[in-house]
Amino acid sequence: MQDKVPTGLDRKETEVYRHLDKSRLPRHIAIIMDGNGRWAKRRHMPRVAGHRAGVTAVRSTVETAARIGVGALTLYAFSEENWKKRPKSEVDFLMRLLSRYLKAEVTTLNKNNIRLEYIGRQFELPDDVQERMEWARESTSHNSGMTLTLALNYSARSELVDAFRSMVNAASQNGGMEHLRIDEDTVARHLYTRHLPDPDLVVRTSGEMRLSNFLLWQLAYAEIYVTPTLWPDFRGLHLLEGIAEYQKRERRYGGLNHWEAKTDAPARIKIEK
Ligand code: FPP
Repeated sequence: MQDKVPTGLDRKETEVYRHLDKSRLPRHIAIIMDGNGRWAKRRHMPRVAGHRAGVTAVRSTVETAARIGVGALTLYAFSEENWKKRPKSEVDFLMRLLSRYLKAEVTTLNKNNIRLEYIGRQFELPDDVQERMEWARESTSHNSGMTLTLALNYSARSELVDAFRSMVNAASQNGGMEHLRIDEDTVARHLYTRHLPDPDLVVRTSGEMRLSNFLLWQLAYAEIYVTPTLWPDFRGLHLLEGIAEYQKRERRYGGLNHWEAKTDAPARIKIEK
């Protein structure tokens, strides 16, 4: 008997989906959306046209991920560096685009049972954008399906700085610094992503081989999938192809591979007598 295919997948998506091991889907996928500017440049269009086209890619990717049962999807929409280093006109455009996306998308997010969250220093964003973000979060907070987290004004180093500050604060309110105990679980509980498991897979579009200050703590054991596709051309189909590639990898977490773990013998070194 053939697996049941989730409704809403198109013919090509269905083809890739059928070959996936449904028991080994990544629980959490993180995506570095890159290449909007290059996409626009190739078409002799302004950079912002690439961002506008990027929204279609966001929509398609989010819907496919939710349909196949991925638990969490995190999109790097806007880094702290973008905010500080790009022309004001482009930043303003991105803010308006985000606001419009949130307004237009809440109905679809609810239809797909998707809960919206954010990571990043939200308090530095314009007030009206923060209000819209809070409204969209609240309007989807009852959903129990996929968690869609948008990284906005996000920097992994700032996240770690905020986590350390938060740990020190918590200790000073709970009996003082002599009660401060720090281990990996403590750090994880003070990160912006405390509501999420670590990503199993990180996807980067447009061929760049960098993490660009994204989820540096959380990606410690993630598989990295880089595709040359520019973000505005990325669709649910590309996500499924990334998952297929992920399933070919062997995750070792610093341990041995399956064969080595099953035997006591040294795996590759033959000792000659
Ligand atoms: C990177 O491309 C992309 C961004 C900085 C912005 C991402 C925004 C979107 C995909 C659209 C809006 C998102 C949401 C969630 C509504 P780049 O401009 O750095 O491209 P380049 O490297 O080719 O110049």
